[in-house]
Amino acid sequence: MKKLFVKTYGCQMNVYDSARMADLLAPLGYAPAEEPEGADMVILNTCHVREKAAEKIYSELGRLKKLKSEKAEAGGRMMIAVAGCVAQAEGEEIIARQPAVDMVVGPQSYHRLPEMIAKIVRGQGHALETDFPAEEKFDSLPEATRSIGASAFLTVQEGCDKFCTFCVVPYTRGNEFSRPVAQIAAEAKRLMKAGAREITLLGQNVNAYRGAGPDGDTWSLAQLIALLAHSGVERLRYTTSHPRDMSDDLVAAHAEIDALMPYLHLPVQSGSNRVLDAMNRQHTRDVYLRLVEKIRAARADIALSSDFIVGFPGETDRDFEDTLALVREVGYAQAFSFKYSPRPGTPAAAAHKQVPEDVRAARLEALQALLRAQQDAFNASCEGRVMSVLFEKPGRKQGQAVGRSPYLQPVHVEGASHLIGTIADVRMEAVQPNSLRGELASVARERVRAH
Ligand code: SAH
Ligand code: SF4
Ligand code: F3S
Repeated sequence: MKKLFVKTYGCQMNVYDSARMADLLAPLGYAPAEEPEGADMVILNTCHVREKAAEKIYSELGRLKKLKSEKAEAGGRMMIAVAGCVAQAEGEEIIARQPAVDMVVGPQSYHRLPEMIAKIVRGQGHALETDFPAEEKFDSLPEATRSIGASAFLTVQEGCDKFCTFCVVPYTRGNEFSRPVAQIAAEAKRLMKAGAREITLLGQNVNAYRGAGPDGDTWSLAQLIALLAHSGVERLRYTTSHPRDMSDDLVAAHAEIDALMPYLHLPVQSGSNRVLDAMNRQHTRDVYLRLVEKIRAARADIALSSDFIVGFPGETDRDFEDTLALVREVGYAQAFSFKYSPRPGTPAAAAHKQVPEDVRAARLEALQALLRAQQDAFNASCEGRVMSVLFEKPGRKQGQAVGRSPYLQPVHVEGASHLIGTIADVRMEAVQPNSLRGELASVARERVRAH
């Protein structure tokens, strides 16, 4: 068996793609390895969304170059591939900057990896594939062979047509493309057969899903979710959604479909209309707030999450205050926030009024303190409640298991390792910094009876 090491950066779609690349290479004799030392093939599945993420790749490649020479000295061969969004954005430049790289393959062309490997093995130099046929990719990938946990990712939609002025994703992932319903349903069935109890439907704009239905009509994400719930998926989630594509039928699905978990990642980026406009988000602050109201009317207990960018070009103190005010008004269960990072080729990077680094840093700190307090308050409000937890993996302590609540909070439970891969009721006992500690509800009841 040859050893394959894959390192994944960026979003969940990259996590999904990494698994599919491993599936693709398994028939060629590559088995997953835990570390790059001695690997026959190393794939860095990269992210280009912020400068830091992209730059990390080059330092990692420097380390890999050493391992590659060590392997060559010992008479072996390590192939290095750069996949994902940096590969798409920078292409040949990567090989120019780090000649130890053998292959550069974009997110929509990785189904061609076997041919690319063959080319390298034949000694025909480097291999580069950065085409955009998402459709071809899904049609030519093999069925999943990897072992699957209790919670699985399934990409249903790719690409983005929104062109927010700060974002590289439309350039690295291409146009919006939705996989046909039947193909997704078949993949979901295989995932469930392999032990998945929960499936998270993925797409850069997952709620813009418009897939070919088995009846010849175009189906929405809400219709797809209903079908999957009906076919026995116990827990469903989807991410990431754009506020503009949050259709009424999808909002209604949160009221009607029990399997759809009460958690929604709905990035707003900013609370200032001026900034939202400059970002080309195509919605106002009010539209977002009304949408939140509508979603909460459908599912009162829904936990909301968002992404924020601070220090977008031209953002004033007043604009930033609007963001803080929006956060206070919505009340998030959790969120991600970033300093604006100028990205090559995007309109915002060329804007004149870049916000100084110290201002960006101060705003990020203030926003994160507020979001942290909201997250802590949300977790504290869960203490004493009984929730269904899907146990996914062993914890650090003997007998401990870690799972997720319906609100996506990590939950640690002692004496539950035998329940990994199943769903059980847990009483939330205490809040820890980024998780909850719980007790199996059956055990908690026993304890009450004994007293
Ligand atoms: N499709 C998703 C997000 C994709 S990128 C959406 O529309 O919400 C994930 C997050 O990275 C974005 O939501 C945004 O908050 C952040 N991001 C994207 N480009 C960025 C940039 N240039 N600087 C800082 N953060 C950025
Ligand atoms: Fe990027 Fe905007 Fe598309 Fe999201 S919607 S991927 S932020 S361009
Ligand atoms: Fe990063 Fe590409 Fe995902 S840029 S966030 S890996 S779509």
